[in-house]
Amino acid sequence: MNRKRIVAGNWKMNKTLPEVESFLQAVDIDTNDQVEAIIAAPFPFINVMASRVKGINVAAQNCASFENGAYTGEVSVDMIKSCGATHVIIGHSERRQYFAEDDDTINAKIKLSLSRGLVPILCCGESLEQRKNGQEKAVVESQLKNGLVGLDEELLSSMIIAYEPVWAIGTGETATADQAESMHAFIRSLLPSSVGDDICILYGGSVKPGNFQELLEMENIDGGLIGGASLEAASFNALYEIAVG
Ligand code: PGA
Repeated sequence: MNRKRIVAGNWKMNKTLPEVESFLQAVDIDTNDQVEAIIAAPFPFINVMASRVKGINVAAQNCASFENGAYTGEVSVDMIKSCGATHVIIGHSERRQYFAEDDDTINAKIKLSLSRGLVPILCCGESLEQRKNGQEKAVVESQLKNGLVGLDEELLSSMIIAYEPVWAIGTGETATADQAESMHAFIRSLLPSSVGDDICILYGGSVKPGNFQELLEMENIDGGLIGGASLEAASFNALYEIAVG
């Protein structure tokens, strides 16, 4: 087993440039080789973040499923990479829900990202209704199988997966550490055995400094994809410190 920890912020559609500047002045992490820090910033801030912050990798929150061309308003993986990002979130539940992203599109985005050396952070997770109906594992299995179709073991091994139950995102309701661990172990079991042990699987959904430690203690939870609690530098600093332990 060769997994580091990851603390990944997801700023979603928040902050203006002056607010990004304030964050950059206040963020202060003591970088550690075993704990990777990532912030998924809105597109306009990727360049400034990547050129100004040391020790935090920058991610995009989405990318186009086409390489380039006449797709007004879209942002390509080459653009993202050329601005200094190293990672890209793909298939976040908010994109699936509000922008009708399906598994085929997600699969195309993952393949494009990997072809350019951008690390995809593939999100999966069930809705409240699906959990109430006992379908959570079937839903996640299908999202992963379809989202990862056609990827060989080498490509798979360079990805990150984030389990984010939709009912826990932005609601203040976190999955219990046991619920999350059970899904993470299941996700690992779905991956080819040669890569399953090495892939980082992040938990996302109302992670904050007060509950991060308990989640990280679980064998199959390698870090967090954190929305609300990543917006303030003090909170991001605290989350990183918890992951360093
Ligand atoms: P949250 O968001 O931490 O605000 O629940 C997590 C996410 O959607 O990535």
